[in-house]
Amino acid sequence: KLPAEFVFSPEFSRDPHSTYSALRDRGPVHPIDFPPGTDAFLVVDYEHGRKALNDPRLSMNPARWPELFPMIFGQGNPVLAHNMLNSDPPDHTRLRRLVSRAFTPRRTESLRPRVQEITDELIDAMTARGHADLLGDFAFPLPITVICELLGVPVDDRDAFGDWSTSLITPPLDEEQARHRAEANDAMRAYFGRIIAERRARPRDDMVSAMVAARDEEDLLSEEEVLSTLTLLLIAGHETTVNLIGNGMLALLTHPGQLALLRERPGLLPSAIEEFLRYDGPVERASFRFSTDDMEIAGVPVPKGSLVHVCLGAAGRDPGAFDDPDTLDITRTDNRHVAFGHGIHFCLGAPLARLEAQIAFETLLRRLPDLALACPPGEIAWHRNGSLIRGLRALPVRF
Ligand code: HEM
Repeated sequence: KLPAEFVFSPEFSRDPHSTYSALRDRGPVHPIDFPPGTDAFLVVDYEHGRKALNDPRLSMNPARWPELFPMIFGQGNPVLAHNMLNSDPPDHTRLRRLVSRAFTPRRTESLRPRVQEITDELIDAMTARGHADLLGDFAFPLPITVICELLGVPVDDRDAFGDWSTSLITPPLDEEQARHRAEANDAMRAYFGRIIAERRARPRDDMVSAMVAARDEEDLLSEEEVLSTLTLLLIAGHETTVNLIGNGMLALLTHPGQLALLRERPGLLPSAIEEFLRYDGPVERASFRFSTDDMEIAGVPVPKGSLVHVCLGAAGRDPGAFDDPDTLDITRTDNRHVAFGHGIHFCLGAPLARLEAQIAFETLLRRLPDLALACPPGEIAWHRNGSLIRGLRALPVRF
């Protein structure tokens, strides 16, 4: 059995791909002691990972969370427990349908002028200085501003809920981190509780008000589901896209040939973005899934009640699914990566993430023709967070 530390080691954070590759050579499914004391399995290939994401025997229902992870979910009332991501049909279908109208490709496209405006303002603020932390100065504020405006929550609060959401998606390693996480949970609950009460008293033309109306006028979801859905959207709307911009830009800046090709042929941008998602996608591992029955994955027995971790980052580098998987190739065609997941939980925000990334990369490359790393690539540090999200701590650049 792999030890829990496996996914938290600095070596793994720096370069998960060679570790995954060594594991994959031994087989697609590996038992792991993570969270400690659970029956858990890592799926590290494309074929079985993709199948698992679409297997109705693997449930997302959090009813067993407190029992399985007392340290993570034992305290308090987890704010993320009652949303579409953490439910199975029919609740999943009902909760997803309620917000899916806001994320269709057409609705998303209508946000283009505003996303462009925010992008230009952020670049204006950087250009005077000639250098920047592309993560903190650009990749973080862009998606969080967009999702705040879409939901209708004040963007001025972004630093506070940026911290809470990072705590909420990072599995705690000790009591101290568990306490921090419980505090973030309570803070997020209080924050959205206040906003919901404000919109209930004075509705506006925003998503919080629309969800409150769906609750009060049509009884389509519970108060707890309103709170949990808003928290999910806020977290999913920024923790991921920031790293698509960060990881993708690092990939480009460390592959000068690919950068030159993209500058020469800007029409390659859509396929470049799919390649960034495959090569170093923001979601390293899909959410927890539980087996509701004794089953086998790739011939490995997975007893009922086990936890299955599908490693999306590993699937993207599987030589069984992609030619030359460790090569960044922005001209790659037929790129069927699973960076946005697969099956009924396929990312609802994928059109929005793609729109934001297209505008971000197009505008950065056009307006900053000399963009380059401001430190040796070896000095760029990755977050160590148990490999749920793969992202950089900072991305120092000059231009
Ligand atoms: C689900 C990735 C951006 C909202 C997912 C899943 C993945 C993912 C892998 C499935 C998780 C699983 O099956 O366990 C990404 C990536 C993004 C991104 C890589 C950026 C590059 C966004 C944005 C939003 C969003 C901008 C907008 C609010 C959601 C929601 C779900 C989800 C609501 C749950 C869908 C469901 O359960 O039916 N995302 N996401 N995501 N994502 Fe994203």
